[in-house]
Amino acid sequence: MSMHPRTASSVVSLLLAAVVSSACGEDSLPLDRPQPAAFRPTEVPSSVELASTPGFADQSGGGVFASASGGLVRLRLDGSKGALEPHPGNTVAAGRVNAIFRLGPHSALVEAENGLFLAESGWVIAPPWRDALGTGVIGTAQSEDGAVWLAHTSGLYRLQEGTLAALKVNGGPLVGITAMAAAPAADGAPGVWFLREGTLNVAVATSATTYQVRGASAPLDAGEVVESMAGLGPAVGTSGELWLLTNKRLLRQTRDGWRQVDLGARPTQLLASGRFLWVKSDDALLLYDADVNTWGVASDLDTREFRFLAADESGCAWVQLGGESVAVSRAPVPRVKGLYQGMQVVEDGLVVSAVIPPGTAPQSVFFQVDGTDVPTTGPQYSLGGAEADGTLKAYSFAGLDAGRHVVAVVARFEDGTEATRTVPFDYQPLDTEPLSWAADIRPIHEARCAKCHTTTPGRPLNTYELWKANAALITAAVRDQRMPADGPMDPQLITRIQRWAASGARP
Ligand code: HEC
Repeated sequence: MSMHPRTASSVVSLLLAAVVSSACGEDSLPLDRPQPAAFRPTEVPSSVELASTPGFADQSGGGVFASASGGLVRLRLDGSKGALEPHPGNTVAAGRVNAIFRLGPHSALVEAENGLFLAESGWVIAPPWRDALGTGVIGTAQSEDGAVWLAHTSGLYRLQEGTLAALKVNGGPLVGITAMAAAPAADGAPGVWFLREGTLNVAVATSATTYQVRGASAPLDAGEVVESMAGLGPAVGTSGELWLLTNKRLLRQTRDGWRQVDLGARPTQLLASGRFLWVKSDDALLLYDADVNTWGVASDLDTREFRFLAADESGCAWVQLGGESVAVSRAPVPRVKGLYQGMQVVEDGLVVSAVIPPGTAPQSVFFQVDGTDVPTTGPQYSLGGAEADGTLKAYSFAGLDAGRHVVAVVARFEDGTEATRTVPFDYQPLDTEPLSWAADIRPIHEARCAKCHTTTPGRPLNTYELWKANAALITAAVRDQRMPADGPMDPQLITRIQRWAASGARP
């Protein structure tokens, strides 16, 4: 096995920390003392009183939450209630909701009285694997390779190809997990970190069906224990990172190694999404934006009664604030529709648009593709513009090299302030060698779609003709990771469906 230089340096610093810690404690790590800049947060109140239990915030705005009365609610960007109904194909009703977790860019895992459900595009769906796992979800995380991990009182699971795979070590389940976060392993491999019986571990997928659980370590002092953790995702030219909250301080591991971050007061709660980290300390709410490496602190916010519910990749957090349920953000950030954080784009054109949150209308809105301005106009704010009849046109990425890029949408307000939403994505243009339904798509349909799309609960899609007639709808549904509804699909299969459709949807 070859040793990556990064591994070598982090091993060295760990040894060093262990040796030095007994002598002079916390001095052994590089120390950051950020000076957060005060900001007046934008607040959007929820029209429904929410329960103080974890929820799911959707990066295109809104989310799925438990209401104070124990029901399941879908909120829109402006805090109003959106449609969310039990799918007619469900044989069981959810009952009182315990908590909600993120499963994918647009899908939420709902833990309720009657077990596990998925909330997806306005439907509550009973996934086929729900019988294998009762209530007891501790957390979910999605690693950079797209794998979805589920920590449960009965063990650690990976949701792959519509089935749950339990991770076992020496034949036993990984019970006793108390915290989990997606972040690269020490060698940079996409991984998920978890805290089990007080020790840190990292699980790394070594192929689509195999994984490895490695002991991992952090430069802790004697008597220092990890209490919670959070992971930031990658962007362009950066990798993901891990943040640990211990009983003494805040630690951060980037690809350059470990650092400690001193914010004045010791934090009490962490919450991360995309490139943003929210930190609650005794009396302050702080926001770290990893893309620009700046800290902000919310001013004029009474955080005495405070609880995080969910955060999304645009830098917005849903919180409980003195009896009210509110979406807080640094500025009224526009949301991007048609492109999500870390999305793999294989087509050369995509319909992408911006949605402006409620409140004062911005004076101007424009896009940036890798830093180059692209003008747009309201009310639809389409990156590719619109046809005369109002239909949004696709924006062509054909001029971009393969690899990571960013689309940003900037809203500029009359008072000179700006709000930006930056979406990193991975462009992997297709070579459109034609594929056939019978040889290339049918096996995917049978493995991942047929159980719901033959008669019920989904529309029938069980023939070539139905796939061809629904090709555009299917491509969008798998690309946006709305389908399959029972868990994520291997990115290669998503690409294969897109290639099949783009090369003529042949039989
Ligand atoms: C666990 C059940 C389940 C699985 C598995 C599943 N779907 Fe669905 N799907 C649904 C339900 C329920 C709906 C909503 C009813 C409808 O519109 O057909 C839906 C809707 C859709 C829609 C139309 C609405 C939309 O969201 O755009 C498409 C297209 C679709 N599914 C494609 C697929 C494909 C392709 C697969 C396999 C790769 C798949 N689905 C797997 C349950 C499922």
